[in-house]
Amino acid sequence: MTLTNIDHEKQIYCFKVLYAFLVVLLLRMNNPCIGCSEREMQALLAFKQGLVDNDNSLLSWGREVQNKDCCQWDGVYCSNHTGHVVKLDLGDQSLQGTISPKLVELQDLEYLNLSFNNFRRSQIPDFIGSFSNLRYLNLSNAKFGGEIPYQLENLTRLEYLDLSSDEYGWFDDSIYAKNLNLLPNLSGLKHLDLSSTNLSVVVGWLEAVNMLPKLRSLILWWCDLPPPIISSVSVMNSSKSLVHVDLSYNNLNSSIFQLLSGTHTNLVELDLSRNNFTGVVGWLEAINMFPKLSNLILSGCNLPPPIISSVSVMNSSKSLVHVDLSFNNLNSSIFQLLSGTHTNLVHLDLSGTISPVLLVGWKQLICFLNYQT
Ligand SMILES: *[C@@H]1O[C@H](CO)[C@@H](O)[C@H](O)[C@H]1NC(C)=O
Ligand SMILES: *[C@@H]1O[C@H](CO)[C@@H](O)[C@H](O)[C@H]1NC(C)=O
Ligand SMILES: *[C@@H]1O[C@H](CO)[C@@H](O)[C@H](O)[C@H]1NC(C)=O
Ligand SMILES: *[C@@H]1O[C@H](CO)[C@@H](O)[C@H](O)[C@H]1NC(C)=O
Ligand SMILES: *[C@@H]1O[C@H](CO)[C@@H](O)[C@H](O)[C@H]1NC(C)=O
Ligand SMILES: *[C@@H]1O[C@H](CO)[C@@H](O)[C@H](O)[C@H]1NC(C)=O
Ligand SMILES: *[C@@H]1O[C@H](CO)[C@@H](O)[C@H](O)[C@H]1NC(C)=O
Ligand SMILES: *[C@@H]1O[C@H](CO)[C@@H](O)[C@H](O)[C@H]1NC(C)=O
Ligand SMILES: *[C@@H]1O[C@H](CO)[C@@H](O)[C@H](O)[C@H]1NC(C)=O
Ligand SMILES: *[C@@H]1O[C@H](CO)[C@@H](O)[C@H](O)[C@H]1NC(C)=O
Ligand SMILES: *[C@@H]1O[C@H](CO)[C@@H](O)[C@H](O)[C@H]1NC(C)=O
Repeated sequence: MTLTNIDHEKQIYCFKVLYAFLVVLLLRMNNPCIGCSEREMQALLAFKQGLVDNDNSLLSWGREVQNKDCCQWDGVYCSNHTGHVVKLDLGDQSLQGTISPKLVELQDLEYLNLSFNNFRRSQIPDFIGSFSNLRYLNLSNAKFGGEIPYQLENLTRLEYLDLSSDEYGWFDDSIYAKNLNLLPNLSGLKHLDLSSTNLSVVVGWLEAVNMLPKLRSLILWWCDLPPPIISSVSVMNSSKSLVHVDLSYNNLNSSIFQLLSGTHTNLVELDLSRNNFTGVVGWLEAINMFPKLSNLILSGCNLPPPIISSVSVMNSSKSLVHVDLSFNNLNSSIFQLLSGTHTNLVHLDLSGTISPVLLVGWKQLICFLNYQT
């Protein structure tokens, strides 16, 4: 071997090293998610092990060579910046079994969706409270049961909390709460859905909700909610942010109108169906206070006829688009009030509410309204 040959070999070696370095650098730049950490992989595998996966939804979760990057597993998403697991989207995968506490190793988790699985009425694991970066938690229709763990109060970054279920059951083994004292800690909450959970003894529910200054959607249908105690909340300070309120199928009384109105300006959708508002004469005045209200559902509330003198001009009438006042005790004065300056109504449901005799002369309006629906 001559000297020049050695130099040449050296040059080639150096070039190879440089090349390899560049390739690695480029790969990292193109695909910073170079695989989740061993710790996160272990946590996910432990989680899988606790589950019964009859549909083989988690088939890609394994240690085989082709699966060794857990960021590529079905339902697992990693941060493009840090490479850590930030999202588990495992809704509707027919998963059963128990949730391994090792899952809390995923400390960067921001988004957890386990909706539409079947956890056989087991309690929501209290260690979910340890996901301190969680912004989205969806356990709806996952058939959890038992008491809402107070540890969820640790989820101070939460923006979306959905523990609802679509079952109009009798709460026999549904999720329940004795109080909602954890809510004020979740001060960033924008969306709260606890529908079909048993909140029958949560007397201070409205006070708790009132501590959420960013809340836009409050969805608590079929919760057996007790009536709000009027003295306990003088001003609804969450009322400015609320856009969508569904408190249907509860035991509310007319005090709810008093609380929702006030300084309220932004309510767009209001559903208070199947609460008993017998004898609540001023209900139409209360609704008249919502200038942006578009969708109003007050079906089956025992609402009495409106007293015509009490509301001279419907100032919410311009915004109303969809109105359901079916199954109440109204009379035809309701038309007088809904018409006027009204321009945007496309759906009006008054079925089961006005006797046909009272409707003489108004049939055309109804036909017209139905036609546009
Ligand atoms: C990472 O980047 C890809 C491609 O740009 C994108 O589809 C994905 O949503 C990003 N992941 C996260 C967690 O933001
Ligand atoms: C959660 O999972 C369900 C079921 O797969 C899916 O339909 C839904 O879009 C997911 N939620 C979100 C916000 O991604
Ligand atoms: C909740 O936070 C408190 C105080 O920061 C901490 O002591 C506790 O361990 C946390 N609980 C859970 C379940 O993470
Ligand atoms: C939670 O998941 C259910 C089912 O996929 C979906 O209908 C619902 O909108 C989700 N909730 C939130 C807050 O995204
Ligand atoms: C929840 O709020 C209460 C009252 O403000 C506070 O004492 C407690 O430390 C908070 N818990 C967490 C986990 O932040
Ligand atoms: C609802 O929960 C309360 C306790 O929080 C309980 O006493 C009551 O029996 C439950 N209701 C039903 C119908 O299970
Ligand atoms: C909301 O009003 C209650 C009193 O009803 C008060 O204690 C609470 O601090 C207020 N919260 C915010 C965020 O203003
Ligand atoms: C509604 O019920 C609450 C609690 O029982 C009571 O304090 C309030 O006075 C009731 N409101 C009306 C208008 O009857
Ligand atoms: C509704 O309330 C009225 C008066 O408070 C009461 O007489 C009536 O029985 C209630 N109706 C139902 C279905 O609970
Ligand atoms: C709507 O009309 C009522 C009187 O019926 C009035 O007290 C209220 O201030 C009006 N609201 C708005 C936002 O104009
Ligand atoms: C509807 O009932 C109210 C209250 O009883 C009454 O003031 C009004 O005159 C009635 N309207 C019609 C058209 O009968």
